[in-house]
Amino acid sequence: MTPRPRLGDRIAAALAARDAASTRRVRRRIESREGAHVRIDGRELVNFCSNDYLGLSQHLEVVSALQEASAHHGIGSSASALVCGYHDEHAALESEFASWMGYERALYFGSGYLANLAAMQSLLGPGDLCVQDKLNHACLLDGARLSFCDLKRYPHRDAEAALRQLMSEPDAAAILATDGVFSMDGDLAPLRDLALLARAQDALLYVDDAHGIGVIGPEGRGSISVANLGAREVPLLVLPLGKAFGGQGAIVLGSNALIGHIAETARPYLFTTAPPPAMAAAMRVSLRVARSESWRRAKLISLVMRLRRLTLNEGLPLLESYSPIQPLVVGDNARALAVSAALEEEGFLVGAIRPPTVADGQARLRITLSALHTEADVDALAAALIRVCQRFSVEA
Ligand SMILES: Cc1ncc(COP(=O)(O)O)c(C=O)c1O
Repeated sequence: MTPRPRLGDRIAAALAARDAASTRRVRRRIESREGAHVRIDGRELVNFCSNDYLGLSQHLEVVSALQEASAHHGIGSSASALVCGYHDEHAALESEFASWMGYERALYFGSGYLANLAAMQSLLGPGDLCVQDKLNHACLLDGARLSFCDLKRYPHRDAEAALRQLMSEPDAAAILATDGVFSMDGDLAPLRDLALLARAQDALLYVDDAHGIGVIGPEGRGSISVANLGAREVPLLVLPLGKAFGGQGAIVLGSNALIGHIAETARPYLFTTAPPPAMAAAMRVSLRVARSESWRRAKLISLVMRLRRLTLNEGLPLLESYSPIQPLVVGDNARALAVSAALEEEGFLVGAIRPPTVADGQARLRITLSALHTEADVDALAAALIRVCQRFSVEA
């Protein structure tokens, strides 16, 4: 009889493999944070890797709303939403998002990851089809896996391939799911094409707009508004709130029937404590600020253009992205780590993104801009990038 494999041996082998491939992950401890500046190991760095695109995570009114609502409601919801964890604050946030985005109903989850697991798991089952862009966020893929449906992934932004995949299973109930703005490449999904083919194929179009909401479109309505689409063409929309809104959780938008079904049947909604009501209160304030303070979006766009102008002129390999996600592809994992460390020596925090977050050979610096950055921050980063890329022979 062969001995039972030992988990300890497997863990040690996996660790050695990660060491060899330069894919070890470490958590950096933030000692303090103010605006776009963080203190790590006693050193102040300008942070170019957070998703706080609008700078709302420390906005005075948002923080005050959280404090006041915690004093009133306590810090936790105390139960699953379907037991006694659903509060007035959750309901108010849901109805404000639904009316802002023009959907019948909204559902607030504790995270974008959970929201995607929930929507996929409750809507799809064995024998159904989920067609997804190859670069969709991991939680969309994990959600499809949790539903035990047939998952097919098309090459990035290739709408014709999506159509072929939908046509390959004409008898299966189907969802076509895509990120609105892709989290690691920063580019936009071809939403108008996807909407057309989803309609032609009777598939439900599902968009996760984690990196578009608040950031692009009028009032920050995100990718679907940029594509001039709404609830009719995109029946299911997921809006994570941990990025531009600076907080925590996610809103899922859809028809009464769709959202009602998710709320009553999704395991990641039923079997978890509802998010804190105080966070819902803070997110209502974030929503108000994000909508009204359009100068934050205007500043972001000008910083994006500035960084691209300064670096592309010097031949740096920035991907074609006009969102605040500006990836600089380095290729090799070890080199990406070395470039990130060299930038840190110069006073900038920029994470090295490596497999499995991106494909093998596609390691990169995921530079993110925020309305909190100044032009001088961007100029200094561009100068450091040019120096460091020269030193490590990173070129287009
Ligand atoms: C496209 C996309 N969807 C969902 C998520 C997960 O959201 P959250 O961080 O709220 O779990 C992320 C975040 O990393 C994301 O990039």
